[in-house]
Amino acid sequence: MPHENLSRLARKALERARGSLVLDIDAERFLATEFERSPLAAPARSGIELSWREFFEALPRCHQQGEMRYLMPTTSPRGLPHAEVEAALEKLGGLTPEAFERYFYENPVTFAAQGGAELWKSVGVAARNMAELFDTGVSVTVLATPARTAGTDIHYDNADVFPVQFQGEKRWEVYEPQDEFPCMRTPRRKVATDAGSLVAYQAYDLKPSDGLYVPRGWIHRVSNRGDEASLHASFVAHANTWLSVFANLMDHAFDTLRSHQPWREALTTADVGSPEARAELERFLEELGRQMRSGLAESGPASFDYVVNSPSSDELRARARESIAAVESGSGVTVRRSGAHYLVRHSDDGDLVRVSADGARFHDVPSRFFYSVLRQDGASLADLESASFSQQEIVEGLYALVYETGAFRLESPGP
Ligand SMILES: [Fe+2]
Repeated sequence: MPHENLSRLARKALERARGSLVLDIDAERFLATEFERSPLAAPARSGIELSWREFFEALPRCHQQGEMRYLMPTTSPRGLPHAEVEAALEKLGGLTPEAFERYFYENPVTFAAQGGAELWKSVGVAARNMAELFDTGVSVTVLATPARTAGTDIHYDNADVFPVQFQGEKRWEVYEPQDEFPCMRTPRRKVATDAGSLVAYQAYDLKPSDGLYVPRGWIHRVSNRGDEASLHASFVAHANTWLSVFANLMDHAFDTLRSHQPWREALTTADVGSPEARAELERFLEELGRQMRSGLAESGPASFDYVVNSPSSDELRARARESIAAVESGSGVTVRRSGAHYLVRHSDDGDLVRVSADGARFHDVPSRFFYSVLRQDGASLADLESASFSQQEIVEGLYALVYETGAFRLESPGP
């Protein structure tokens, strides 16, 4: 397969294609011909299976973690309120697998269990392999849809979706995109469903162990037309784009620039557009560019929108967490980047940055502490103390950066 036909991302993914794809297909061919281009039906990779029993058993935990959504698009476009579902479950015996099962078979409600990679081991392994292959975050939602219902209206997603059917059947009617290459940073458009706008591509009837690839932006209507309930997982590969990088770097730059006096001075409408203002604008743009470049140098992939949940990143994070035991041995201990991918967001409170290992949970860290540690890779605890951080600030900051996110690790002094 000639590599020059591949997109930049596909080429990089291929170089790393040690992991497996959820679909049982030739990964190289897929990346060259369908990835980010067109839908593809394929058998799901053997080894990912989920029984109804395994599904219902995980639901009490999933519900308690706030990861369940109860979908009934005909009457509740935003899903049923948790309180309403809990009240119904209470009558069926409380938050037990059996109550969830009875509720499911007695109501035309689709159960969507988010965080599937954490709930079912085989799903988690497949999600992490995919994350490594595509070098981005992969999340999994497992959906159970009662007979003759649909859990969602016609829509498109801003991420690549790989559904894998476990039980029952599901029809996927796929239409050509009306919004090409949507991502986290592009506004969602309403799908125009009139005959002239909606261009049918193909319909797929997924049976157990069938899989499908739906590129981001491709419109789909998904329904269970059969007499049997359907169970499937949607593996979702989120796209990091230049829009992610620029939006985050602009936030980074803004965070600094808003404390600079020239950026705070009052303007009149006449100021903007005058020849002097143009010259000034050039200086502002240079300053903006400088700040953005410094953000890129400091945080690198932290300027993405999604973190890679790959096995190697998981391992680096685990090692970072273990290293916290070394903090006992005193001020010779240094703080280094762990190499695991993490995200940084600037909060409205300029004194804090928000750091995350997964893009879902963010931990507040004082900005001055974060940048002291970041700028001096290998800063020692003594360095931090002499930069006038209190013991408590150091302990709390390192807890977030080392233990909570695994973005940094501690290193004992050499022998
Ligand atoms: Fe979808």
